[in-house]
Amino acid sequence: MKISATIVLLACATSSVFALNPIVVKGAKFFDSVTKEQFFIKGVAYQPRGQVTDNTTDPLADPAACARDAPLMAELGTNVLRVYEVDPRKNHDACMKTFADAGIYLLLDIATPHFSINRKSPEYGVHLYKAYKGTVDAFAKYDNLIGFIAGNEVTNDKTNTQASAYVKAALRDIKYYIKNSKQRQIPVGYASNDDEYIRDSIKDYFNCGDVESQADFFGVNLYEWCGVSTFQKSGFKDRTKEFENYSKPVFLSEYGCNLVTPRGFTEVAAIYGPEMTGVWSGGVVYEWTQENNRYGLVKVSASGEAELLPDYTNLKEQMDKVKPQGVKMDSYSEQRSAASCPAISANWKASSELPPTPSEGACECMVQNMNCVASDKVSSIPGQTGNNTLGSQLDTMCGLVSCAEIGGDAEKGMYGAFSFCSPRDKLSWLYNLKAKELMKTSPTNFCNYNGLGQEISPKRNDLTSCAKIAPDLEGSADDGTFNTLSSSGAQKATRKLIYGDAFVASVVCVLAAAFFM
Ligand SMILES: *[C@@H]1O[C@H](CO)[C@@H](O)[C@H](O)[C@H]1NC(C)=O
Ligand SMILES: *[C@@H]1O[C@H](CO)[C@@H](O)[C@H](O)[C@H]1NC(C)=O
Ligand SMILES: *[C@@H]1O[C@H](CO)[C@@H](O)[C@H](O)[C@H]1NC(C)=O
Repeated sequence: MKISATIVLLACATSSVFALNPIVVKGAKFFDSVTKEQFFIKGVAYQPRGQVTDNTTDPLADPAACARDAPLMAELGTNVLRVYEVDPRKNHDACMKTFADAGIYLLLDIATPHFSINRKSPEYGVHLYKAYKGTVDAFAKYDNLIGFIAGNEVTNDKTNTQASAYVKAALRDIKYYIKNSKQRQIPVGYASNDDEYIRDSIKDYFNCGDVESQADFFGVNLYEWCGVSTFQKSGFKDRTKEFENYSKPVFLSEYGCNLVTPRGFTEVAAIYGPEMTGVWSGGVVYEWTQENNRYGLVKVSASGEAELLPDYTNLKEQMDKVKPQGVKMDSYSEQRSAASCPAISANWKASSELPPTPSEGACECMVQNMNCVASDKVSSIPGQTGNNTLGSQLDTMCGLVSCAEIGGDAEKGMYGAFSFCSPRDKLSWLYNLKAKELMKTSPTNFCNYNGLGQEISPKRNDLTSCAKIAPDLEGSADDGTFNTLSSSGAQKATRKLIYGDAFVASVVCVLAAAFFM
């Protein structure tokens, strides 16, 4: 009997590679959805940058490194990785299984350097929306994914608060996409820096408004506790007070000031002790590998071996001592109300009116209504300068005609009907706008723009209806950017079936195990 049970359990372990219980949000806390115990994040930031071989770093596509690091992390008591950047086109099965086997979950930042919202000139368009959906498609299948982080420190002081409107619009759309296309409701949150002028407004901003656009959790990157300090003196006490009534889970999405080294991590006792566990759900130490900014717990040698640094040993000593006391999911029923949206003020300039969901159909329709568009002589090579680039042409044209329909004003909460279109489509809009003026005096030469414009005969004549074309909320990333993820209906169905099989398999396993034991 014993032997058969072992065989059944082994079979079960291999049939379901996603072996950890999903974590869910209830009220202001995280819970293990199966044991119903409160879940405290004992996290570490994981973004090794030493062996970057191409332009997108992806620590979850390096199975050897994952296999090297997972046991060392487990030894440290780690149960969550925060990863800032992945390439969704790569395969992550091996690493995700390695970490799941070590009892480690993933918090994944959804933006990458190529696809992110720029705090200085924020925009949220069709390409970004597609890229984000591509990352959701690549990771939603892993049960040890806790959640997606829709932005990290995008707004970081009072000069760039408008960017938060665009990040929150993206967060809203990622949530909607998950709700409509995935079986498991994966939380989507935000990670903020801690700036004294905006900290109150930004935490409320991501918590306010309709439920569909609220962040499911809120992280603060908190570096106030440096060297030997205390709960009171460090500022942690004040920060804790500020979140005491927050309606969603909060945690330290980064911590570990390194002004004093090696770090003693005396804050760990506070983070997982009674002063903070009532409000916070743990935190994420910054960071796993030693990089130029000197926050590492381990140092990876040229030959790829991990050497433990004093910070690792000190952190482990602190982690070994803590035992956070939580509440049980079934007896926890507190429901707090969401915050009111912050008013526009000297320090806060993001309206609660969010940018629209990008609609590729609206942009296509718009361009098909044009008499004059940007030709392929307009260069879109990133980093290129000169007066024939998209950027310089958009700048020039915005001085000549109104850019209202392709731009946005997050302080006023006003966004143009084509504000989410690609830069090329936006330029076509502007060329055509100017062309309509020029046509009156020059019916044969209205679309030149120093050779960059192209006259075309419109395929349709219904511009006013274009703006009403609904965004593609369910379709996944299938443009050139993420070719390999192209999901036909058939592939989608397969994905769901695979998930279903794993679920059925695990239920059968529990039954079989019970029978054989
Ligand atoms: C990385 O970026 C450089 C410069 O933009 C480019 O030439 C190169 O092809 C890129 N490499 C990959 C693997 O994408
Ligand atoms: C939290 O709610 C309590 C009870 O309503 C109130 O007394 C307290 O001031 C609130 N704290 C914050 C930081 O708003
Ligand atoms: C770019 O600048 C050059 C030199 O000033 C000028 O001859 C050319 O027409 C300009 N091209 C465009 C597209 O504005």
